[in-house]
Parts: sequence; structure tokens; C-alpha cells
Amino acid sequence: MLEWKSNRRILIGISGGISAYKIPEIIRAIRKNGNDVEVILTQSATSFITPLTISTLTGRRAWLEGDFLSNEHGWEIPHISLADWAEAFLIAPATANVIRRAALGEAETLLGTAMLATRAPVVLFPAMNVHMWEHPATQRHVEIARTLGYTVISPEEGELACGYEGKGRLPKNEIILEVLWKVLSPKKDLAGKKVLVTAGPTREFMDPVRFLSNPSSGKMGFAIAKTAWYRGGEVTLIKGPTCIEPPYGLRVVNVTTAEEMYDAVLKESEKTDIIVKAAAVGDYKFATTSEQKIKREGKDRIQVTLEENPDIAAEVGKRKREDQILVGFAAESNELIENAISKLNRKNMDMIVANDITAKGSGFESDTNSVAIICKNGHMTRIEGTKEEVAWRLWDVIEMKFLAKEDVR
Ligand code: PMT
Repeated sequence: MLEWKSNRRILIGISGGISAYKIPEIIRAIRKNGNDVEVILTQSATSFITPLTISTLTGRRAWLEGDFLSNEHGWEIPHISLADWAEAFLIAPATANVIRRAALGEAETLLGTAMLATRAPVVLFPAMNVHMWEHPATQRHVEIARTLGYTVISPEEGELACGYEGKGRLPKNEIILEVLWKVLSPKKDLAGKKVLVTAGPTREFMDPVRFLSNPSSGKMGFAIAKTAWYRGGEVTLIKGPTCIEPPYGLRVVNVTTAEEMYDAVLKESEKTDIIVKAAAVGDYKFATTSEQKIKREGKDRIQVTLEENPDIAAEVGKRKREDQILVGFAAESNELIENAISKLNRKNMDMIVANDITAKGSGFESDTNSVAIICKNGHMTRIEGTKEEVAWRLWDVIEMKFLAKEDVR
């Protein structure tokens, strides 16, 4: 786990919507990472969850509307001390009423005044009936809240507790957590940068049911894309077919074959500042393919001819502008560093991540990785850890070598 994801102070405001029942699970997840949580419940939230549930999970008292202006803590006025204490302030679910409070700067409740008093980033997660969400009054308040600096995450579409279908669902807990980590990210060095990441395998079909591929799960590329998003980047992820879902917050382009990835990368790369090529692209495709499933009967052996796919990284390297950064990966089973350096030079990359795919807990599918980041001048940094940690450190190296203008390519 990234070390900055623990020992943080998070204030959560819960207002009165049915999805309030999901928030205790979020509190548990945040606490499990070693963080402190304080909770303000609005009056109507207490109809959905009890203060006892909250205080049991936070290990602290639950703050209620009746605590507004309480002198129970002497000089510690609750809305000011909570506002000052918080490093991030999440409001989930945010009802139409609470969004209005945010937009109009309402100062008659503990939640409203804490929103005004805090200098921490405030994120609202609206959840309500679809018609309420779409109502111009709600939309206007959302717009005003955004212009005032609040982050308002649009609700998800789907079946609503009120029986309607449409936009109004609270995002999944994992998404709420991801937004929290982004808000708490200690680095924003990719703000204003367009980042392109490739991830996962490609598939080359022989017939409609058989293909040539590799075991890439997408985990490494996803971690690079996600951490770039944490650091403020505008991220496009071009991914091959994977079993796991790509992270939240990215523009995702799905491709299947190496040629599709080639087209997508070349289309996107022109408008990109940094390109990281973590995908395991198939070097070969079938010279001929069958539209019908090839039958087994009567054939105890079949011969296929493979022909080479385009080398995407090499083409990007050829077209690369002076102000673009191209980072490649090299998945190697032998002579790791030599092979990686040769690819770095051949494909005109600025940096390459040499990935030993034979070491335990490294390479394809695992949650951890062990890599050496090599710059053009031969400077090398070795990193081991979860793929998220490796991705974060990779961005640290990119920041140090390129973004902080220490030009040691
Ligand atoms: O997805 P995971 O399960 O998490 O596994 C992660 C990983 C092992 C796939 C990843 O860490 C990794 O090493 N990715 C690169 C795999 C690879 O294709 O390496 P390569 O040495 O064959 O290619 C070198 C570079 O050229 C890579 O940046 C690759 O994306 C690129 N390439 C390769 C072939 C091709 N036709 N076009 C390319 O752009």
C-alpha cells in the first residue's frame, strides 16, 4: 500500500438518503488502512443509520445536528475543530438538500458550517431519485457548488431504491475510495499533462474461437494509469482484453489486436505529453485467418504461419516530438538489463522499465513487481513492491528526470 494512504484524517458527512447504509463499509475500509475518521450525521441521516453504528466503527463519537453550537468541548467549537482537523471532507450520500446547502453557503447546521469553515477539499457524492437529480434546481446547485470549488461526483445510472431506473445511485464504495485517494494524493505533478498508458495483452485470432495471446492481466498498466490520475494527469488508457476492470477516472479505449492498439496509440499519441507502454503486445499474428471455426476432424496436425505485427513503441519513438516523453517496458526472461537497453535505444524511448518475468512475485499477473528503470544515460533505479508502489515510484523517477527539468535523458 502507498504509505501516504495511511495516517490521514478524513471527515465524512452523511445525509438522509437510503444509500447511507453503505457508508459504514466505507468507514471500515478507510480505517483498515490506518486512517482516522470523524462523522457528521444530519438529522435525517439518523433515520437510516444510528450514531452507535458510526461511533463503533470510527472509535469516536458521532457528531449530530444537535451538537452544533454545543459547548460540551469548551472552546472547541465542533464545526471549526472538525473543519480544521480534516484533510479531506467527503459527503456521501449528498441529498438534493445538502447540495443546495453547499451551493448557497448555508450556515444553520453543523454540516453546512463545517463545509464553509474547512480548507480541506470537499467532495460531494449525490444520490437521489432520478427526477430529483435531473431537476433544474438540483442541476443549478451542482453547477454553483462546482464553481465554488466543491468536487461533485455525478451519480451512477441503474436501478434506484425508489423503484425508478436512471441516474441517482451512489457510486460503488471502491470508486468513493479512489476519489478520496486522489484528493489526498501528496503529488499533483501531472496536473495539466495528458498521459497515455497502454495495458494488458493483445489477441491475434486464427479463427473465431482460437487466438494467440499472453498472460498479461493489465494490473501493471492499470496501476500506472491510476497513479497518474492521482497525480493530476488527464489519463487515457488503451487496453487489451482483461478480466479485471480498469480503474475509475480514466478515459478507456478498448482494443483487441496489436493492429487495433497500433491505430489507437498513434491516434492518441499526438496530443499526449507522456506515453507509457506497459501493454504486452503480440509480436506476431496469423498470416491467414479463417472466418469459420477450423474443424479438428481429419487433421492430426495443422501448420500455421505467423507474420510480424507493427511495433507500436518503435513507431511512436520515430514520430516523437522533443517535448514528449516515451517510457517503454521490456518483459525479459534473460539478460534483463542488456535486452532492455537495446530496446530503449532501438525504439527511441526516453526511459525503459526492465521487468524480470521469471522472478517470483514479478511480471505477469502477480500483484507485485520487481523492475529496473533505465534512462538513456544509463542511470538505473531498482524498485520492488506492489504494482501500485512500483507505478508511484516510476512517476517519481519521471518527475525527477523530466518534469523537474533535470534533463539527464
Ligand atoms: O499486465 P500484468 O499482468 O500486470 O503484467 C505486466 C507486464 C509484465 C505485461 C508489464 O510489466 C510489461 O513488462 N509489459 C511489457 C511487455 C512487453 O511486451 O514487452 P516487450 O519487451 O515485448 O516489448 C517492449 C516494449 O515495446 C513494450 O513497451 C511494448 O509495449 C512495446 N511493443 C512491443 C511489441 C509491439 N509489437 N509493439 C510494441 O509497442
